[in-house]
Amino acid sequence: MKNILIMLSILFLTTNIFATEEIEEEIVIDKSITTVSNDTRQLLLAEMRFIEQNMKDILFLIVSGQFEKIEKKALGIQESFVFKKSITKEQIKEIQKKLPKKFFLIDYEFHQTAGQMAQAAGEMEDAGLVAEEYYNMLKTCVQCHSTFATHRFPNLIE
Ligand code: HEC
Repeated sequence: MKNILIMLSILFLTTNIFATEEIEEEIVIDKSITTVSNDTRQLLLAEMRFIEQNMKDILFLIVSGQFEKIEKKALGIQESFVFKKSITKEQIKEIQKKLPKKFFLIDYEFHQTAGQMAQAAGEMEDAGLVAEEYYNMLKTCVQCHSTFATHRFPNLIE
């Protein structure tokens, strides 16, 4: 009996430790985006609105089977045309200095997934795969927002 109690308490303690770790992992709140200069931040926001509009457009293109247009829009997101054209070298340096590595890792994954969606539409014309990549993109939106944009989307704080 005593042994069982000891085992239980060990088990309880270990699961508790894991639980705490998980929660800490989930509620990382990073407001570094609010420290970038206004011009740079406006540019990031413009990129956000650009991808939001394109994601909305793609939703309709998926349900109406317009692969060519999906490919075009997905490539537009992958390359972030608006953003790349307008950002200066100084601004790139600024965000590299002020935003943590994790931001760029998620951003990289996001753009890669857009590329995969473009491929699923253009080369493969595979509606199921396009929808899957669309879902994967949504996951990276939420992943980034729940870490770096909780000041804007407080509902994402768990
Ligand atoms: C790598 C990180 C990252 C990814 C990926 C990302 N976002 Fe964002 N997003 C942000 C941050 C940070 C903010 C808040 C910016 C601020 O407050 O200046 C934001 C804000 C926004 C806004 C608010 C814009 C405004 O005018 O206030 C929209 C809309 C948005 N994101 C849409 C999306 C969509 C849709 C996706 C995915 C398809 C996405 N974002 C993916 C980081 C990201």
